[in-house]
Amino acid sequence: MIARTFRTTLYLTLAIVLFAFPALAGHGGERPAKQAILLVAFGTSAPEAQAAYANLDRLARAAFPETPIRWAFTSSMIRAKLGADGNRPDSPALALARMADEGYTHIAVQALHVIPGYEFHDLMRTAKALEGKKDGPRKVSLGMPLLSGEDDLADVADALLAAYPAKKAEAVVFVGHGTDHPAGMAYPALQAVLAERSPAHFVGTVEGAATPQRIAARLASLKVRSVTLVPLMAVAGDHAQNDIAGKEDDSWVSTLSRSGMKASAVLSGLASADAVAGLWIEHLRQAVAGLGEAAHQ
Ligand code: CO
Repeated sequence: MIARTFRTTLYLTLAIVLFAFPALAGHGGERPAKQAILLVAFGTSAPEAQAAYANLDRLARAAFPETPIRWAFTSSMIRAKLGADGNRPDSPALALARMADEGYTHIAVQALHVIPGYEFHDLMRTAKALEGKKDGPRKVSLGMPLLSGEDDLADVADALLAAYPAKKAEAVVFVGHGTDHPAGMAYPALQAVLAERSPAHFVGTVEGAATPQRIAARLASLKVRSVTLVPLMAVAGDHAQNDIAGKEDDSWVSTLSRSGMKASAVLSGLASADAVAGLWIEHLRQAVAGLGEAAHQ
């Protein structure tokens, strides 16, 4: 009984000392605040597509010249493929653990995905699982994917229309990946916002309802003679090269060409277009701001 009372008193005293002198609290093993950025992409093994990530890397470094910037890929398939060449990228979990081990306490994690789908939710779970844990980062602030809200839809639509204008009898179709995740509603939402601004810009998906057949019928009814296909993807990887621009009968280019219009594909991802890439960097700014004042060194 006496021992317990003594212990309680001791804890109370300690608590009072720590509250009264917050600076002391850091000395009992808590590491000094150190800030870093982790950019997280799906990943690609196509060398041309890597240039698009390099562009995002450049923009992020220009925006945060003082802050160390690391990368992780969410696709285990891509990590394994690059790993076979002896250049294995980190998973988000490994990158966060590694960075925490190197003493980074406050980490802004920016998702370079287009929509907040499965990949993003996995990333969020990983970040939450490590945040505040022993040997983990003290704080993780997550930056949202490109199309994560109504403001994003307007900003992305404006950037896309500026980057890919259409002349008379021409159309532009932005082709996204598509998903059965609820966040897939971002595609028809973007279509609606584009339609308010332009009658010649459309959104399709490699997987899902906005198929090349449906878009072809729509374009034919509008008497479109020439159509440009633009990947609504961070990088122009496998899907862009095969599903959109490929020579197979069921590619977007082939399907639209069969409908009697001249179809061509742009083989560069959104991360290569500075106006769009800059919107990811804006999300990164919000994530860094979310780390709070404590993170500043
Ligand atoms: Co895919």
